[in-house]
Amino acid sequence: MLPIENLKRPDVRKIGVFDSGLGGLTVLQELLRNHPGHEYVYFGDTAHVPYGSRSAEDVIELVCEIAGYLVQQGCQGLILACNTSSALAISALRTTVDVPVLGVIGAAAREAAQVTSGCVAVLANPLTASSGVYGERIRLESKGLAKSLPRVVEIGCRDLVPIVEKGLLHTEESKHILEGYARTVLDAGADTMVLGCTHYPLLLPVLGPLLGEGVKIVNPATLMSDYLHPLEHQESPTVEFKVSGSPQEFSASASRILGWDIESRQVLLRRPTQTL
Ligand code: DGL
Repeated sequence: MLPIENLKRPDVRKIGVFDSGLGGLTVLQELLRNHPGHEYVYFGDTAHVPYGSRSAEDVIELVCEIAGYLVQQGCQGLILACNTSSALAISALRTTVDVPVLGVIGAAAREAAQVTSGCVAVLANPLTASSGVYGERIRLESKGLAKSLPRVVEIGCRDLVPIVEKGLLHTEESKHILEGYARTVLDAGADTMVLGCTHYPLLLPVLGPLLGEGVKIVNPATLMSDYLHPLEHQESPTVEFKVSGSPQEFSASASRILGWDIESRQVLLRRPTQTL
């Protein structure tokens, strides 16, 4: 098995959790449930979402700037609650910041290798899918488990992040789009599907029933808590929310997803806003 970087150190109390937008909230929610003793700073790069339509260079530059900001805010560890950043920027980041950095791909690939009986589909944005990182990691993990190598089908989905960011899940058009992806997964003969974008767990109310019981779902958001050091619980966990785009829009959507009212503040990045 490949080593997975972790944040299991008692001196890592304040953790920066980062995504391009709302998706990382699926990770944050699990962290708050399992590790309420930590302090969290959530950063959504909403001025530049979706990352899936950007170049790798763009993503690396943005992620390095945001990571630098989170470390400046006192974060002693970082979680890339974003598959694209985990696929493309983690190596660059580890040479840029001097705190431990945990990505989502290692844990998800290991879980997929463990549970599959032969074919894994990975739904991800086009940039993550074309990087081939999931296929590579799942095969390496399978070798480590002495299992025969599964077939891995990486499916690039351009249109799913906007459905989440714009709150359009329960529309006919979104259902139609999700039916198409579910058909691709089923036609590939997949017995396991990785949600290779942290936005995608928020699609499960519609996507889950389309896939049916025969496909095991690997959700990286539920796996990250295993890589933190348990701290004593506080009465209420501390979370600050920062965004590079509109704090009003983010606060409204994040409050809806988390089920409690949050406030966020804007942090202007060096790079101007460039919505695609
Ligand atoms: N939620 C992120 C991921 O896990 C980024 C999605 C995007 O902005 O395209 O890849």
